[in-house]
Amino acid sequence: MYSLVKPLLFGQDPEAVHDWVMAALAFVGHHRPLLQLIGTFCQIRDPRLETEVFGLKFPNPIGLAAGLDKNAIALPTWSALGFGFVEIGSVTAFAQSGNPKPRLFRLPQDEALINRMGFNNQGATEIAERLRAWREQGGLAVPLGINLGKSKVTPLEEAPRDYLQSLEQLWEYGDYFVLNVSSPNTPGLRQLQDKEKLEELVVGVRGFAQAQPHDKPLLLKIAPDLSWQQIDEILELVERYSIRGIIATNTTVGREGLKTRVNESGGLSGKPLRERSLEVLRYLTQHTPLPIVSVGGIFSVEDVLERLKAGAVLVQLYTGFIYEGPALLLRLNRGLLRHLEQYQTRTLQDFIQGPG
Ligand SMILES: Cc1cc2nc3c(=O)[nH]c(=O)nc-3n(C[C@H](O)[C@H](O)[C@H](O)COP(=O)(O)O)c2cc1C
Repeated sequence: MYSLVKPLLFGQDPEAVHDWVMAALAFVGHHRPLLQLIGTFCQIRDPRLETEVFGLKFPNPIGLAAGLDKNAIALPTWSALGFGFVEIGSVTAFAQSGNPKPRLFRLPQDEALINRMGFNNQGATEIAERLRAWREQGGLAVPLGINLGKSKVTPLEEAPRDYLQSLEQLWEYGDYFVLNVSSPNTPGLRQLQDKEKLEELVVGVRGFAQAQPHDKPLLLKIAPDLSWQQIDEILELVERYSIRGIIATNTTVGREGLKTRVNESGGLSGKPLRERSLEVLRYLTQHTPLPIVSVGGIFSVEDVLERLKAGAVLVQLYTGFIYEGPALLLRLNRGLLRHLEQYQTRTLQDFIQGPG
């Protein structure tokens, strides 16, 4: 079905298509019969796929990565489509329109995207209002992550205050929170991965979280372009300040191995990111006991299994959804179940922990 529609969609401007599709998904999200219909076809609820991480229960380990539903306009639709968790954002303290268009590019030959969106989002206040409205409509059937970025107007030195402001407004709505210090599209943002700046940010945000009646998991999302030494420094910090996990990785500024000749700045995602994302995951699992959420270039059930086998507790995807379409989650979850049956393993967690 998607193979019929895809050439039409791919013939149009990528961001225009994104906006139409998001409007359609948001419409579905507000109409229970449509949600139920989609859920009937796409959702697989099977206890064997369930997993528990960060004290949260996930119906399956495959989540929507940050950036697709930045403003949380289509929340219930994602779980109807079969995602096991949803991450919204990046949300910034102040609403902002992002970089000038065009800022999103398809590389079909590479099954990749380049984006320099620049955290276009409606800001923490409006998004908190929307999350409240969703909650009143019955909430989300899967865990909700809220990914936080820095507002462009806020100078780098004041970044901790900016993240904190968003966190305060959104705290009651998220199941976990992500400090995104790895987008290549906000000037200077990735410098927050440097030891001193990161320490200041983490200390501020942890202080707030620990003072709340119910602590919630805080995760850090890192770039794929860090050196091992930079990753070691980050690990030392996150372990010291009880950050609960790492999301690896964001998009890359690298352009190695592309078939497409392209001269656009921004972050590259999709298949060309796959190997590096896996390499970073392997490094992380060898160097820290912290749970790792793996993201970058996941398109197939083999990709999901490879990440889980390499030690990821959960995975996320964005670009795979654009190239493979809305039935991807059904295929992935069915594929996982087939694997369990083939290897006569009771649950996904047994499969991951088992030999081989
Ligand atoms: C158009 C676009 C916008 C994105 N926006 C964000 C964002 O706002 N915050 C964030 O943490 N990651 C963002 N990402 C990165 C994704 O969450 C993900 O880390 C990256 O795309 C690699 O996964 P993929 O290969 O499955 O797409 C964005 C990615 C794309 C393609």
